[in-house]
Amino acid sequence: MFPLFKPLTLSVVAARALIACGGGDSSPTDSGAVSTPTETAEARQNRLSQLGRQIFSDRNLSEPRGTACVACHQPDQGFAGNNGSRIGVALGSQPGVLGIRNAMTNAYQGLVPAFGFITADGKTEAVGGHFWDGRADTLAVQALAPFLNPLEMNNPNAQAVVAKVAASTYANDFRREFGANIFDTPDAAFTQMGVAIAAFELGALQPFNSKYDAMVRGQATLTPAESRGMALFQDPLRANCAGCHLMNPTSGNPIDSPFSEFTYYATGVPRNTAIPANADPAFFDLGLCGPDRSAPVLPTSVVPGTRAEQFCGQFRMPTLRNVAERRAYMHNGVFTSLRDVVSFYATRNSNPTRWYGASGVPNDLPAPFLANLEVTKAPFNRAAIEGPALTDTEVDDVVAFLHTLSDGFVPTQGPAPAR
Ligand code: HEC
Ligand code: HEC
Repeated sequence: MFPLFKPLTLSVVAARALIACGGGDSSPTDSGAVSTPTETAEARQNRLSQLGRQIFSDRNLSEPRGTACVACHQPDQGFAGNNGSRIGVALGSQPGVLGIRNAMTNAYQGLVPAFGFITADGKTEAVGGHFWDGRADTLAVQALAPFLNPLEMNNPNAQAVVAKVAASTYANDFRREFGANIFDTPDAAFTQMGVAIAAFELGALQPFNSKYDAMVRGQATLTPAESRGMALFQDPLRANCAGCHLMNPTSGNPIDSPFSEFTYYATGVPRNTAIPANADPAFFDLGLCGPDRSAPVLPTSVVPGTRAEQFCGQFRMPTLRNVAERRAYMHNGVFTSLRDVVSFYATRNSNPTRWYGASGVPNDLPAPFLANLEVTKAPFNRAAIEGPALTDTEVDDVVAFLHTLSDGFVPTQGPAPAR
């Protein structure tokens, strides 16, 4: 079981990302927080993080009341979860109102780079940004979106949210942090709510204490099934998971294993027909091409001939840390077990009718964008005639390995944990 919130130590990554979010040092101009000259930056971040945690857990901040951030980002579900919805996408604070996407984990956000494009080996790829479509540049900005999203916490405006914080049990902590008159300027107070939540996410939600991390530190040994799974996960000719979900088990440092390169692909995830919006056969969630964002503007550095339409249907790869704790997988939550996810990777090409019905054609991408489907990286480059990329036993081994990525492992061997 995932111990609730982790000790408030800032990792190197967290500190780096915090600076990227504009809250990294103790100067009041960065975050607006009031700090004394003698206070260390770490002590201040810890206070901010405590405040952020209270906001994160406050069920009064939705309309109607009852839905906190934590409802969709639950500690015992790998900081994902859909507020009780079983159909793979999140239930909002309004009764019966369902969104179009599966809640992502909000842990390990310090590993997510800013949104942009990288051009290498003759190819331009989109990378980074928060959300499945990368539309939020920083964590502090991301944190404000759910409050106002009608499908999530449904507040009419920033003032309404800030009024609830001003009436909360932690209002004085908020004033102490951001100034006695902070609630007089709701827009400024709203911005600072995002700063506090980001400090919480970066300070408390990246403990790097899974069995895998203990193994990297020389404090644990994987079982034979987990080891076989890890070998398949890394094998570029077999599962090739690590070809996208990056890891480095020999560096000695868990930060080198983000389990995502945070790039975007159209993997051909099957359509989730339980999503209300999908009752309209003409509706498609196109990720980087909307509906929740405008198509990205390409920089001049792209490979010549690259067009924005090539990114339609692509979604950002999440980290696989704590993935075994989640209840629904992929942007549309269509899979409810890890075994199904891994089987999908293993047999998308060899047995497409299993996933897409009789036509065998990926059914959650409109015809003009089928060309965007990922077919170059293993296991997606296999010819159908080659059969599944993994046997059933190998699928089980990969699943066993994925279970080693859950936090809360207590090492019983090897050197004491580094401070
Ligand atoms: C009703 C459910 C719900 C609530 C409440 C909710 N979220 Fe989310 N969260 C989601 C969904 C769904 C996504 C993915 C949305 C998308 O990609 O368009 C998401 C995505 C995120 C992400 C992006 C993770 C990544 O890897 O990019 C973060 C961070 C996050 N939420 C934090 C929060 C915070 C902070 C709050 C409270 C202010 C909150 N969420 C409230 C459902 C919810
Ligand atoms: C070509 C790059 C690529 C490869 C190879 C790859 N993945 Fe993924 N993975 C992604 C992307 C992109 C997503 C998000 C897809 C979406 O939701 O549309 C994803 C999502 C996932 C998820 C869902 C996570 C969540 O929070 O919902 C799991 C689990 C996963 N991958 C496991 C694996 C495993 C296991 C392998 C090896 C068998 C693998 N992946 C190989 C790109 C890749």
